[in-house]
Amino acid sequence: MIRLKDFSRIVFFTGAGLSAESGIPTYRGKGGIWAKYDYEEYACQRAFDRDPGKVWDFHDERRRRVSACEPNEGHRIIAATEGAVVVTQNIDGLHQRAGSKAVVELHGSLWRVRCAGCRTVAGNLETPIRSRRCACGAWLRPDIVWFEDALDPATVRAAGDAIAKCDLLVSVGTSGVVYPAADLPRLALARGAVTVEINPEETPLSGLYTHCMRGSASEMLRRMA
Ligand code: OAD
Repeated sequence: MIRLKDFSRIVFFTGAGLSAESGIPTYRGKGGIWAKYDYEEYACQRAFDRDPGKVWDFHDERRRRVSACEPNEGHRIIAATEGAVVVTQNIDGLHQRAGSKAVVELHGSLWRVRCAGCRTVAGNLETPIRSRRCACGAWLRPDIVWFEDALDPATVRAAGDAIAKCDLLVSVGTSGVVYPAADLPRLALARGAVTVEINPEETPLSGLYTHCMRGSASEMLRRMA
């Protein structure tokens, strides 16, 4: 049995399945966000350029729903793991709300906005956002990595650095189909770290992990704590 206390440099690599128990839908599969909403209408720069109001309505609604959710036991166990680094694909901010300090947000955050004109990035917790325009007059957009956007190189570097140093990588609740994020667990393997996948279902990356735990995030993390 893998126990968190037996490792000193732990990275949690997390995805939407971790927040599912908080009531936030995952992206893929039955009931998934992309089964209901076409990303080409709501989650890419082309959609925003075409109709920023529609894209903002979608994100305002997501902010409203996520702000009504609380971190779950899985987030709390991760936050209580001393010295751990969280590399997350989630944009919901629940790791931080649970108390995690070192969080690398690969896909940005619902709670930050970026100006399309002057490029200023700012935290913003308003639901709905009071102004969709920057003081400079240009549109603000959610500081999220949408489909077809590139990941921020400094963020990817920070994730890679943490993973290259870890002795345990625990992947929690990700389908492992979105690249380049899905490449990151391989770095831990290449370093000889112990790697664990927590997911009720098998994923295309399952064969890479040294251990697979089939079950919900909170229950499996409780077993490791
Ligand atoms: P997905 O929706 O692709 O996958 C969620 C995974 O969570 C699936 O493999 C489920 O089996 C698993 N799962 C469901 N319930 C779970 C539970 N209670 N405990 C543990 N696991 C559970 O979500 P991601 O892999 O996070 O990008 O998706 C990656 C990226 O694709 C997201 O960051 C998002 C999306 O497009 C952006 O929004 C930029």
